[in-house]
Amino acid sequence: MLNNKVSSLINEQINKEMYSAYLYLNISNYYAEKGLNGFASWFRKQADEELEHAMKFVNYLHDEEEHVSLLAIEAPKHEFKDYKEPLELTLSHEKYVTSLINKIYKATLEVEDYRTTCFLNWFINEQREEEKNAHELLTKFEYLVTDAKALHQLDDQLATRK
Ligand SMILES: [Fe+2]
Repeated sequence: MLNNKVSSLINEQINKEMYSAYLYLNISNYYAEKGLNGFASWFRKQADEELEHAMKFVNYLHDEEEHVSLLAIEAPKHEFKDYKEPLELTLSHEKYVTSLINKIYKATLEVEDYRTTCFLNWFINEQREEEKNAHELLTKFEYLVTDAKALHQLDDQLATRK
């Protein structure tokens, strides 16, 4: 059994990870509609990863014999003003997710639940990677934005990126 605050924060985090999947699937669909299939494929992969994150939290609650309560998933914003806006949104969203993970981490330390602290270490590292990727993509995009040919080269690179 987990501390109430820790288990409710993890339950909420399942919802946040599912929302992240929705957000990236929506961005993927946006780029697909614009014919930028590499960007679309990159964001589809991000959506898949977010679902995996949600499941890691679900599995953890099962392992701890905690109840999983699924909350309504908010619909993401549909329209973007330009190709850059989803990339900015991704970076700010990942920073927000980092702050949520940090909050759960802090709660585990407060109640000396070091097992959950250890479990969260994976997410702490993952967020470093997520923020780095989002920042890198935005920077590359800003650098190339005036050059249509370079934009399509970046799109091709993203199609095969793991
Ligand atoms: Fe995530």
